[in-house]
Amino acid sequence: MSVSFNTRNAPAARGQCQTIDFAGKIALIEGYWQPRVVAEMNDYQFKVARLEGEFVWHEHADTDETFIVLDGELHIHFRGGASGDGSIVLRAGQMAVVPKGVQHKPHAHGEVKLLLIEPRGVVNTGDGATSERTVANDQWI
Ligand code: NI
Repeated sequence: MSVSFNTRNAPAARGQCQTIDFAGKIALIEGYWQPRVVAEMNDYQFKVARLEGEFVWHEHADTDETFIVLDGELHIHFRGGASGDGSIVLRAGQMAVVPKGVQHKPHAHGEVKLLLIEPRGVVNTGDGATSERTVANDQWI
């Protein structure tokens, strides 16, 4: 008996039951600050991106956001959170979770290769008005 999946929910289409190589995926990305989905787990997406320079201040009202640095040095600045303004530094092999509702601004010192984990549908520049840095979400690579 065969089970049919629609394309969107097929395990292969969601990056499941296969080896996913972060470096190989990231090498396919042209340009910076262009998150690309490589897999889904339930309603969460794993996105890779190349970063360089400063991003824009933004926040996500409805979800936390996880940053895992694969290569390079990423600074994340915070303002308005319960623990006050500040910043952290993430290097290869390090991660941080940005709580929902906290304004943040990633700043890559040199090139950073990043893995993001967040629910499907999150816009990279957060809530509110779009900017020249806003890209369509749910773009797979
Ligand atoms: Ni964000």
